[in-house]
Amino acid sequence: MSVIELDKVDLSYPQKNGEPFYALRQLSLEVNKGEVFCLLGPNGSGKTTSINLVNGLSQPTEGAIQVFGMNPVKDMRAVRRNLAVVPQETALYNDLTAKENLLFHAQYYGLEKRIWTLQIPMVLELVGLSERQHHRVGTYSGGMQRRLALARALLTSPELILLDEPTLGVDVQSRNSIWSRIRGLAEEGKTVFLTTNYMEEADSLADRIIIIDKGQIVAAGTPQQLKAQITSNTLELLFTQDQDALLAMNRLQPHIAAESSGSRIYIKTNDKMEMLRILQLFKPIEDGLVSFEWTEPTLNDVFLHYTGRQLRN
Ligand SMILES: Nc1ncnc2c1ncn2[C@@H]1O[C@H](COP(=O)(O)OP(=O)(O)OP(=O)(O)O)[C@@H](O)[C@H]1O
Ligand SMILES: [Mg+2]
Repeated sequence: MSVIELDKVDLSYPQKNGEPFYALRQLSLEVNKGEVFCLLGPNGSGKTTSINLVNGLSQPTEGAIQVFGMNPVKDMRAVRRNLAVVPQETALYNDLTAKENLLFHAQYYGLEKRIWTLQIPMVLELVGLSERQHHRVGTYSGGMQRRLALARALLTSPELILLDEPTLGVDVQSRNSIWSRIRGLAEEGKTVFLTTNYMEEADSLADRIIIIDKGQIVAAGTPQQLKAQITSNTLELLFTQDQDALLAMNRLQPHIAAESSGSRIYIKTNDKMEMLRILQLFKPIEDGLVSFEWTEPTLNDVFLHYTGRQLRN
């Protein structure tokens, strides 16, 4: 049985002109137990809206949603018993310390003392905040607050964890520790539903990804499948001057499809031998070839392919 199921979900808001505005349009997806499922999309694409639907904070205007086979609004108590959320705006108590925040949350959720006395130090350790646990949260950086919000969500050992842009504004080191914790959760059989607009995050964490734009799915699959939809790698040649690139283009073009921009030339090729043959056409000094790079397609290329725009805006 799938943990989350959305079937042709619309979520629309009325507008002044009488036309509805669709924050989500015909969104269907299924998240299985033990997987890390990622919604990847730019600002305003409907990520938080989707999290709020799964969390029972809003209802679809059309279509159906099930979480653990239940309706997240009607069966909110039952659904929330096994679910934890790290919202985009982390609501922590600034005047309390990290430890006090966790204690408050544990008591609010009715955790037994023998459980929270073990769990609180453990989750603080997991997110690397043990040393700062007695400091007021108001003195924490944005990244530390994100990590504390994650610790708080882990306190209740949820089956399903919803993460809305978990590493927004987090430094690389903390990001890596959050990533490894998220992977660890899935290995323990927990289900993770996360949103991001960092393609590296989706690429390295997710078992499956849906790329959304303006509330609609533009592409779906494993990171590998998505990147494979973009046919080829790109060889990028950098020349000293625009003029060198122009001369190089003249030599390439009868045989090879190339595009140029200023002092750079881009050639689509998956064939390493072809790449080497192209490089051998140019001598560093006479032809002004400075450097080259052979890049694999990224999720941004996938997005660009389907929407004509960049993922990061
Ligand atoms: N209460 C509301 N009334 C009208 N429009 C809304 C409302 N809430 C959200 N929207 C619109 O729905 C769209 C999706 O918003 P959402 O917050 O889900 O985007 P997001 O993908 O989470 O973006 P971000 O990356 O900035 O967090 C946006 O265009 C937003 O302006
Ligand atoms: Mg959002």
